[in-house]
Amino acid sequence: MKLHQFLFVVLPLLGISSCKKAPDASASGDIQVGEFASLTGATASFGQSSHKGTQMAIDEINADGGVLGRKIRLVTEDDQSRPGEAATVVRKMISRDHIVALLGEVASSRSLEAAPICQQAGIPMISPASTNPKVTEVGDRIFRVCFIDPFQGTVLSKFALSKNWKRVAILTDVKQDYSVGLSQFFKANISANGGEVVSEQSYSSGDKDFKAQLTAIKGAQPDAILASGYYTEAGLIALQSRELQIAAPLLGGDGWDSPSLVEVGGKAIEGSFFSNHFSVEDPAPAIQEFLKKYRAKFNAEPDAMAALGYDSAMILADAIKRAGSTESDKLRDAIAATKDFLAVTGKITLNKERNANKSAVMLVVKEGQFRYVETVAP
Ligand code: PHE
Repeated sequence: MKLHQFLFVVLPLLGISSCKKAPDASASGDIQVGEFASLTGATASFGQSSHKGTQMAIDEINADGGVLGRKIRLVTEDDQSRPGEAATVVRKMISRDHIVALLGEVASSRSLEAAPICQQAGIPMISPASTNPKVTEVGDRIFRVCFIDPFQGTVLSKFALSKNWKRVAILTDVKQDYSVGLSQFFKANISANGGEVVSEQSYSSGDKDFKAQLTAIKGAQPDAILASGYYTEAGLIALQSRELQIAAPLLGGDGWDSPSLVEVGGKAIEGSFFSNHFSVEDPAPAIQEFLKKYRAKFNAEPDAMAALGYDSAMILADAIKRAGSTESDKLRDAIAATKDFLAVTGKITLNKERNANKSAVMLVVKEGQFRYVETVAP
């Protein structure tokens, strides 16, 4: 019997445990890592992509012998893109599966549901893609491997100003913390730098008719329109704005990243720009190698969520190795100490707010593809 087996299996049986937290040894000795994702429901493309990337990383880690001599077992739960469901499935994974850490979610509102639960239970949580600043503000157990929206809002506003789009309209999804935050940071930055927000309109996730808001926007004659919500509505917004003969270009954030954006938006979304975490056109070896492996495994193109899901799992595995343990406090400290980790989406150092300082890319929708425009450093 190895020492760690003795510590985690025998000592607790004898009732002599030095750990505060429940031991994580399951019968098989695998390390249980939780993942929650929107595998179904309105934003299924987010969850399916992040899950594929996450699973691919775990498979690679296990094929390499695992960590600390143990395999990682990924326990995945579907939150169905539904408010409330994230909290339910995360509680279940903590109590039923005794997960040692949690990966997820993409959507900020759902990460915000899970974060207080993990913080309270002492379970480190790493969000691959939630960019709203509030997520990691929940507490010292909550991390992310992506940039945050005060930066993304600045990237978008600088881009608009560089195109001389000074009069901008903003359309916000009030049901998503992500959209509300991104609009707010965009507005603050553009207003402080010579731009002007000429119309602010809102809608709720799931809405299909944006004509009233777009008519008001048209009246304000903006140079560009920020649609700060998710791809689920951005395609329809593009279609309806062209129907109303609004010529102003549309701008969006990372939440636009999905093949459905062009499936729904078609010609209407052509020439629109959005910010994102990476570009498949980037020649960086880490990206090209990831692309090759992902295409071979899934016969599909990875999007940003896939790459970030992969990175979140790799960073967790690296931290478990450095911690030499899956014990909660040690693991938390090791994740917090992540420095210059060569991830697919860039070199990741976690700052003291537990966020990653990373570049963003601007992409343009051209002939149904997301083409690289430029990289913006923090
Ligand atoms: N940043 C979005 C959010 O916080 C989620 C997202 C990330 C969507 C990456 C697409 C790509 O809600």
